[in-house]
Amino acid sequence: MKKEEWKNRYGFLLAAIGSAVGLGNIWRFPYLTYDNGGGAFLLLYFFALITAGIPILILEFTIGHKYKGSAPLVFAKINKKWEFIGWWQILISVVISIYYSVVIAWAVNYFLFAFNLSWGSDTVNFFLNNFLKISGSPFELNGMRYNVTLSIICVWLFSYIILNSGIRRGIEFVNKFLMPTLFIIMIIIVIRGIFLPGSSIGLNLLFTPDFSKIFDGSAWVDAYGQVFFSLSVAFAIMITYSSYLPKNADITNNAFITGLMDCGFSLLAATAVFSVVGFMAFKSGGVIPENLSGVFLAFATIPEAINQMPYLAALIGVLFFLAIIFAGFTSEISIIETVISAFMDKLHRPRKIITSIYCTIGCMISLIFTTGAGLLILDIVDHFINNFGIVLSGFFEVLLLGWFFNITMLKKHANAVSDIKIGIWWDGFIKYITPLILFMTLCLNFYSDIVKPYGGYSINALLYLGWCVVAFLIILAYLLTRLNWYNKDIFKELL
Ligand code: PHE
Repeated sequence: MKKEEWKNRYGFLLAAIGSAVGLGNIWRFPYLTYDNGGGAFLLLYFFALITAGIPILILEFTIGHKYKGSAPLVFAKINKKWEFIGWWQILISVVISIYYSVVIAWAVNYFLFAFNLSWGSDTVNFFLNNFLKISGSPFELNGMRYNVTLSIICVWLFSYIILNSGIRRGIEFVNKFLMPTLFIIMIIIVIRGIFLPGSSIGLNLLFTPDFSKIFDGSAWVDAYGQVFFSLSVAFAIMITYSSYLPKNADITNNAFITGLMDCGFSLLAATAVFSVVGFMAFKSGGVIPENLSGVFLAFATIPEAINQMPYLAALIGVLFFLAIIFAGFTSEISIIETVISAFMDKLHRPRKIITSIYCTIGCMISLIFTTGAGLLILDIVDHFINNFGIVLSGFFEVLLLGWFFNITMLKKHANAVSDIKIGIWWDGFIKYITPLILFMTLCLNFYSDIVKPYGGYSINALLYLGWCVVAFLIILAYLLTRLNWYNKDIFKELL
């Protein structure tokens, strides 16, 4: 089978940016900035981007481009014993693809609600009790929500159609349409936001620097964590996407553009969200709304702000949820593609078969999240995957490639095809700074989860849905590593 390739550079870039720009930029970045010292956090964030985000993007683009394959194949080609890391990343992507689709599905429902603001005046109550009909514990399912079920099926169906059409006619095509549209929508929302009365209150909250935060370890951990999540590194995604690059594609420049565009979008989203927050504070005589991040920002606080807008309220609502859908969907496609490509390589089966099987199974598992326990399960799984799964995977990736592999050879490969030449600084960031920060993050996350069980859930819930899921993924990754490659010749290609 000849490996597919992107049609042109913009196709690749837009797909990489499409993966990077996601829900994290809209509902996580603004809050982290506000919570961690505003303008001061931006400095930390920028530092993390330059010392870890972009260097790792370069690393992943390089190994994907050089070894041409899905993550397990790339790691196996580098060293047979490292295939495990590839599968570990793939399984993390499996879990994320399943719950990420649910959030996009909620946004689809809310997109429809926005036309006549049918979430009513008490938006938190509407979200939890009318829409999700949330139950009391993660083990109490209480039946399925049919409107959510329908939109989850649509999300998977669309993903299936696009991924089935392949790299050029599927992924590249949708990103070329959705990404520019998404940026335009966000700019419209920003302009509307800035002209709302009180927007400057919000922007002051967001940007006024509190430099004392620079001495606060958790602000650093948040900055690095957000850079990782936002750039979709350590998920195997960027390795997969760059494996479809043609032989002479630029690597370093593309990594800089992807990193900076993602950061630019985050700043746009933060401006939009906090102008609206300022407007709400203005309306309520100075009270800052409570829920400023995550699902509650998107599905409760923003709808409430939209209710209060003087004109064009429904239009802004529709655009906002469209932005969530577009940002989420282009990321979702990248996650599913990563998984599919790994199984295509390992089992040596065509795209059509693997895509049909994966999308069917993935869709069925997602339906668990349409029950009353959906949000609670999602919250726990997401916490553990982010705090342990991704950090561990990033840590081993840089440790092994930086210390037990010829990283200079990778640098030469990148420099041979790129405009911007990387120097010794890159080795330093990959070998020292990133592993150190990731190790500290891991210890800190571990410590805080042990002293204070996450989110006030019961020990059983955290044990089964958190720790056991992580352990199960490790065992499964091991079993997949043991499975034989159906086509041994795949190792001869380009070695
Ligand atoms: N980078 C995406 C975001 O910021 C998240 C994402 C995670 C995308 C995993 C793909 C895979 O939301």
